[in-house]
Amino acid sequence: MQESHEKALTDPIFSIISQAAEELGVECYVIGGFVRDYLLNRGTAKDIDIVAVGSGIALAEKVASKLEGNPAISVFKNFGTAMIKHDDIELEFVGARKESYHRDSRKPVVENGTLQDDQNRRDFTINALALSLNSHDFGNLLDPFDGIVALEKGIIRTPLDPDITYSDDPLRMMRAIRFATQLNFVIEPKSLQAITDNKARIKIISKERIVDELNKIMLCDVPSKGFSLLHKTGLLELILPELTALQGIEEIEGQKHKDNFWHTLEVVDNICKTTDKLWLRWAALLHDIGKAPTKRFHKKIGWTFHGHEFVGSKMVYKLFKRLRLPLNEKMKYVQKLVLMSSRPIVLAEEFVTDSAVRRLVFDAGEDVEDLMTLCEADITTKNPKKQRRYKNNFKLVREKITEVEERDRIRNFQPPVSGEEIMKAFNLKPSKEIGIIKEAIKEAILEGEIPNEHGAARDFMLKKGASLGLKK
Ligand code: CTP
Repeated sequence: MQESHEKALTDPIFSIISQAAEELGVECYVIGGFVRDYLLNRGTAKDIDIVAVGSGIALAEKVASKLEGNPAISVFKNFGTAMIKHDDIELEFVGARKESYHRDSRKPVVENGTLQDDQNRRDFTINALALSLNSHDFGNLLDPFDGIVALEKGIIRTPLDPDITYSDDPLRMMRAIRFATQLNFVIEPKSLQAITDNKARIKIISKERIVDELNKIMLCDVPSKGFSLLHKTGLLELILPELTALQGIEEIEGQKHKDNFWHTLEVVDNICKTTDKLWLRWAALLHDIGKAPTKRFHKKIGWTFHGHEFVGSKMVYKLFKRLRLPLNEKMKYVQKLVLMSSRPIVLAEEFVTDSAVRRLVFDAGEDVEDLMTLCEADITTKNPKKQRRYKNNFKLVREKITEVEERDRIRNFQPPVSGEEIMKAFNLKPSKEIGIIKEAIKEAILEGEIPNEHGAARDFMLKKGASLGLKK
């Protein structure tokens, strides 16, 4: 006897779809992520894919006419798909296909397959699982490729020969790695080999779709799993060569440096334990990319990466542009964190002075906590003594940040004496002296010579003006 999964289909939308299909005389099924996530107990997804053995568009129209408020349908004729948004649910209808389709293709869609034809052309056996919406076997699972076994064993496997599945839509190579990371599954060896063999085909995929998968990997609990698979299959070198350039340990005259690629992945995993912020995770991924082009060996001091933070922050722009990542404040945020990524550690290695902390808060502004989070994640030393020392130092830096913040409010620094006040005090027209005085006031505050208060700043201004030979 077939086990019924009616429990997955209690939302009234499913009986409406079932009814509509019956009236049209077509069979239909829920397929893909909804079924997979239900069987994995990952909750029921709000994106629901419906496949009709017939016209998906006609079924969508029928369903819409039965729904309260007659929701609009978005029809994509070229792909033979239609979408309805209803409450918080997004329904996507498609006709069963014999041939594969993908969103980048302009080929017309052939809508004349059976359910099994359609399942054949899907990406993975775990995504080809379908639940019947037909009244005679409502809730029955249709699983021609043992997708359920793959789910239980945690295996990513393609329904057809992986070379065919991946060349139908090369983005699936990244999807395989993304699902393996999200679900903590294993990609079967044949499939992994096919990804390696077909890696060059990734170039026909749009940057937006690639980035979408990269972001999903970044948002996993342990992204290093995905990045090592991307690396192993050779995809990473094609997508993010700046990262793979960090791989390797060089040794000259017995002096080695650490492998900055594997170190970076460790930092990313570390930061994922403390933040869900996507762009902070990106900053962790990119914080050392300047180390490849700045690496030098000096006989006396060994390996150095002078200025890698600056070079790295410049590389962030190029990388974001190439991948069509946003070139807005999100990029600037990543650049800033990369640029400042060594500041707290330098600070913590020495005696933690108030003025150094004030300068850090001044330069990092609102992002100072994120910067600290990045630097704490950057501690990957396996030496427990060093580990403890760094952690303690950062704790001290954090305490000092709170302390100087309470006292001096540096984070959103506004000059306590305005340019106008300086002009009035010395009867000045706009001139360079005003800038000089303002800068001197800021410096005095950051150095802790005066508190960040109007009275003290005004007195300081009067003295500074006098020293410049200005008259009240
Ligand atoms: N699909 C496919 N090949 C692709 C993309 C999608 O075969 N390149 C099929 C799979 O059957 C997939 C379904 O279309 O399950 C829906 O795709 P999508 O909504 O992108 O993914 P989900 O599986 O729903 O998973 P997620 O929402 O996590 O991306």
